Amino acid sequence: MGRLAYVNGRYMPHAHAQVHIEDRGYQFADGVYEVVPVVDGVLIDENPHLDRLGYSLAELKIAWPVARPVLRLILRELMARNRLRRGIIYFQVTRGVAPRDHKFPAQAKSSLVITTKRLKPPAPSLFSEGVAVSIQPDIRWARRDIKSLSLLPNVLAKQAAVQAGAYEAWLVEEVSGIVTEGSSTNAWIVTHSGEIATYPRGHDILGGITRETLLDLAEAQGLAVVERAFTRDEALAATEAFLTSSSAFIVPVTRIDGQVIGSGKPGPVTERLRELYLAHVARQVALGQIGANATAARP
Ligand code: PDD
Repeated sequence: MGRLAYVNGRYMPHAHAQVHIEDRGYQFADGVYEVVPVVDGVLIDENPHLDRLGYSLAELKIAWPVARPVLRLILRELMARNRLRRGIIYFQVTRGVAPRDHKFPAQAKSSLVITTKRLKPPAPSLFSEGVAVSIQPDIRWARRDIKSLSLLPNVLAKQAAVQAGAYEAWLVEEVSGIVTEGSSTNAWIVTHSGEIATYPRGHDILGGITRETLLDLAEAQGLAVVERAFTRDEALAATEAFLTSSSAFIVPVTRIDGQVIGSGKPGPVTERLRELYLAHVARQVALGQIGANATAARP
């Protein structure tokens, strides 16, 4: 059987899954989304992702499409039907279907669409060589903390980066030269003094779940992590750089705008952080599997 998608209460063949042409997500990007990694059939950091979904929905005054425990069940059902072991689960919630009119509709039911995607483990060269990033102007709106469907500036930046031969775009505020984050990842550097820096949480960036988890893990190890802004020039002078996201986890960055960073190879701090993060994922997988077995054993 082919891949299924979940659309407003129904499991449908992915290739034929459809939403209404007047869904506000389609017409206004009036909605939000989440991407949760799945490893060995276990959702990684599910609760923080659902918390962030709740935050994004509340900021835009969009109602939950179903109650949170129901959403958790539907995610598992779709994963099971698609036999998803490793990859991502994507879910988006929009304000629903209504005749096109900018103001919120008086009555609309939030739409929920869920898809899964299998991912192969990333190529080892990603971690042995690192990747290149390209600096692009940050032309986004002022509420990047909301995980909104409106991703046009991110799409344009990523495309420009790919055309420049890079893996990701790092977005820079034109006047200050400050690097906020990547087009779909958070940006980090390691300085000569050993400081591990990433842009502070707030309205300017998406509060990445991988970023948040890594900050906690690094702090628990007594590592010198600091949430502070850094500029493009500081990034170019860094000893190491890396990026984080739910789909890529932690990827070393060894070139920025064609310039080699540090030794040109992934550095020891990035490697240590990656190991810490992978150990966190492995713990979640072990706990998730115990949980799943306990549920399966219940009469
Ligand atoms: N992107 N910054 C932006 C702008 C993002 O879109 C993302 C996630 C991140 C990293 O957040 P997290 O660690 O929670 O994945 C940072 C997802 C993966 C996407 O759009 O596909």
